[in-house]
Amino acid sequence: MSGPSLRKKDAHSSIHEAALNEVKELRELYQKCLENREIEKALQVLEVAIEHWETRTLKHAEAEEEGLYKEMTMENPDLVTTVIQLTRDHDLMRRIVENMKLRLQTHEPDQKMITLLDCLVIIDEIHNEDEMNKLLGDNEKYTGKLV
Ligand SMILES: [Fe+2]
Ligand SMILES: [Fe+2]
Repeated sequence: MSGPSLRKKDAHSSIHEAALNEVKELRELYQKCLENREIEKALQVLEVAIEHWETRTLKHAEAEEEGLYKEMTMENPDLVTTVIQLTRDHDLMRRIVENMKLRLQTHEPDQKMITLLDCLVIIDEIHNEDEMNKLLGDNEKYTGKLV
């Protein structure tokens, strides 16, 4: 979804919510696999979760940086600081996902991955709230809640 559709708070927020609900489910599933010592399955869930972050949230972030963010700052230069902050959130999520991929090469699925998955969710929730309230305006207050 690009330009005009991302400007609509409801539509944009639905994209956030759908992706977040799915990654939260994958996180729960991963934890269950760890608890049951199903290492092979845990690895598969982790791979799916990483791919999900890459193809959904990080792709969404890329589209925002290339379209929405540029358009919004061109129209209103006061939003530059907000866009820098939001882009930093994207960068943090990119780095955590990259970190998880590297870690998978040398470590078996473990508890540390739960911490990283939780970090991603928390950053994304705060990020989404700021995107709705600070970037897209507060004329209709966003009701997204933190964990
Ligand atoms: Fe974003
Ligand atoms: Fe977004």
